[in-house]
Amino acid sequence: MKETVVSGIRPTGKLHLGNYFGAVTNFVKMQYDYNCYFFIADLHSLTTHPTPQDLHGYVRHVLVEYLACGINPEETTIYIQSDVPEVAELYLYLNMNAYMGELERSTSFKDKVRSQPDNVNAGLLTYPTLMAADILIHRATKVPVGKDQEQHLEMTRTFGNRFNRLYNTDLFPESFAFSYSENLVKIPGLDGKGKMSKSNGENTCIYLSDSPEDIRKKVSRAVTDGGPTEENQQKPEAVQNLFDLMKIVSSADTISHFEDQYNKMAIRYGDFKKQLAEDMIIANAPIREKIEEISKDTLYLRQVAKHGALKARESAQKTIKEVRQLIGFKPF
Ligand code: ADP
Ligand code: TRP
Repeated sequence: MKETVVSGIRPTGKLHLGNYFGAVTNFVKMQYDYNCYFFIADLHSLTTHPTPQDLHGYVRHVLVEYLACGINPEETTIYIQSDVPEVAELYLYLNMNAYMGELERSTSFKDKVRSQPDNVNAGLLTYPTLMAADILIHRATKVPVGKDQEQHLEMTRTFGNRFNRLYNTDLFPESFAFSYSENLVKIPGLDGKGKMSKSNGENTCIYLSDSPEDIRKKVSRAVTDGGPTEENQQKPEAVQNLFDLMKIVSSADTISHFEDQYNKMAIRYGDFKKQLAEDMIIANAPIREKIEEISKDTLYLRQVAKHGALKARESAQKTIKEVRQLIGFKPF
């Protein structure tokens, strides 16, 4: 029997290179070796109160982009989280055994309290139990995500094990973050600090759907410094970040050329950025073309979502049936 894999991305914007290299490339590789469920976490996005138009538009974008990146709906179950109400039901049960203290200690909750102090809603506090429900509903063991999600997976194991202990069962297996690369990847942004993330601002991100012009413009504005002042000096974070991005999209020759130039204090950031932008454009081109093509085919998108929802519900209903029995919800 193939191991089960679950992962999802919140539809809060279009997918960027961080999402792609941190998560989606692993989805694409895993689909042939595992029993995979990849979904669009629209319930999770409600924690930030999107308008109905934004929510609907981004769900569509992410679905198109999943397909454009090569997730194959024949091999994998692709679905929209809100199409599977069993997830919300399991979330409710898990919340009964999740404690305020542990939820308040989650790093992502603390970050949100800082970033949206006027909207500290209960959904934000219980974000990790909803995520645990996503994973436990299919009894997955592997979860391809970026490094920032490790704490949520630790909490998923805690909630699953706690349920097992409480109800004297081994229903829920433990799940772990997974990546084909040795370490979980962290793709830097263009703002000179931190990771590529929608929440760090639009200009830190290169989107899969960005046009060549968008890419050139954003990369040309990327933060650098005044240039090296000593031979072979260590690079400041902003410059290192651009080199890290280059490692993802450029050839080994190009990278070593610019490394040499930097070490000899001969680097011209203008040329360096131009090369980086052109290599990003080449890497992005096939996906961008597919995004445009698939985006036009609403009928196909509707079929994929419908088929995915059926398959996901079939798996989810099996788990919920057992959970209800274990909890004591039984017919007389
Ligand atoms: P954002 O930070 O733009 O809001 P999300 O938090 O929605 O992105 O991330 C969706 C998925 O993409 C997660 O699995 C996350 O770990 C991964 N991811 C996001 N940004 C990066 C990044 N810069 N590097 C690696 N993985 C990332
Ligand atoms: N929390 C994840 C993120 O911000 C999205 C997510 C929701 C998820 N449920 C999940 C990822 C279940 C993996 C498995 O990126």
